[in-house]
Amino acid sequence: MLYAAILLLVLTGKMHAQSKLKVIKAGKLVDVIHEVVLTNQIILIDNDKIVDIGANIPIPKGAEVIDLSKATVLPGLMDCHAHVTFQPGDNYYEDIFRKTAIDYAVIAHIYAKRTLEAGFTMIRDVGADALLDVSLRNAINEGLIPGPRMLVSTFVLSPTGGHGDLSGFNPSIDWKGNKDYTGIADGADEIRKRVRNNIKWGADWIKFAATAGVLSEEESVGAPQYSLEEMKVLVEEANRWGKKVAAHAHGAEGAKLAIQAGVASIEHGSLIDEETIRMMKEKGIWLVSDIYNDDYILSEFAKKGYPEKIIEKERLVGRLQRENFQKAVKAGVKIAYGTDSGVYPHGWNGKQFFYMVKYGLTPMQAIQSATINAADLMDWKDKTGSLTKGKLADIIAVETNPLNDIKALESVKFVMKEGVVYKNELTP
Ligand code: ARG
Repeated sequence: MLYAAILLLVLTGKMHAQSKLKVIKAGKLVDVIHEVVLTNQIILIDNDKIVDIGANIPIPKGAEVIDLSKATVLPGLMDCHAHVTFQPGDNYYEDIFRKTAIDYAVIAHIYAKRTLEAGFTMIRDVGADALLDVSLRNAINEGLIPGPRMLVSTFVLSPTGGHGDLSGFNPSIDWKGNKDYTGIADGADEIRKRVRNNIKWGADWIKFAATAGVLSEEESVGAPQYSLEEMKVLVEEANRWGKKVAAHAHGAEGAKLAIQAGVASIEHGSLIDEETIRMMKEKGIWLVSDIYNDDYILSEFAKKGYPEKIIEKERLVGRLQRENFQKAVKAGVKIAYGTDSGVYPHGWNGKQFFYMVKYGLTPMQAIQSATINAADLMDWKDKTGSLTKGKLADIIAVETNPLNDIKALESVKFVMKEGVVYKNELTP
């Protein structure tokens, strides 16, 4: 008994020694819940959490004070469509034929660090090879390497010849030796198996290609690639294991099938029509549309040797995607921030804010899409997405008020994730 009491004292004593209180003095603070900018706020942080926040919080003695009184403080940003484990190199064919998953594995931690330093404290990673995303997520969670908190999808499910397969090459090239270690799945049985494999190996989400894509060599850009029956099986199986589903969908028909099958989010949504928008609004389906990408692909991908047909596909969808995004915004579809990072260089995740404002969101709504809305889509709203007492201390700061200049979010100067400061260019 006595022994237990002493042990308890020792343990709690130790805990106190470890937990140094931090205080952030925020000159301006973006309150994404009440949609206002507050001034002169104090945020009190104990370990990984915000324990108090407000204008008249006394600063505890001995607390470490971080003075951001000249800056604007926001919740950590969240990218719901990231691929942090890869990024195109200088040459399309080099990437495909000479690089292995190990090449990406040794670099991915750099991409993760850049993402975090850009102010993105959490991402939903929607597809990776060889379970790189699982390893990266786990290493970040263990505190071994800096990076955003990750929810991962492992292999993207795709039919043979679909967006997740490699087509257009000599058929005798054996692309993947172990056919069970991919996302290629045709028909109900294979789909169930792939979903179960992904979850067994550590997937938090399931991602699949409901339609064709841009950066893949099949002819179409937006045609459906699974039947309704297949999509239903996929979603049913994922949900059985408590996982939600994100559907890559450029075309309207495939997006509608995915919505009927019960997905949580439509990714890209480039060619969605009025009916798709109505269905999304009615059923509360999220739109995660990567509307910055078009600029980067059209300026860089020809130089990298991407086949003309891919560039042509981008020309087909780029402008329409932005216009349809604007229509969805007008109709009141739920919008979460997602950029398809890994198409453009990691760390540029903030560039999309400008486009989201240009195509219909107010600056506050754009910020909400990457904070409270993203947290909602990811089912993490009780732990992050706003600067609220009891939530994780995922906190960033910028020099200028992003409500006046949304591009301020392209240069985040201060990043704290779960109470740990990873970047601070604001105080000496
Ligand atoms: N991963 C997507 C695809 O290959 C990228 C699309 C990029 N283009 C765009 N306009 N968003 O389909």
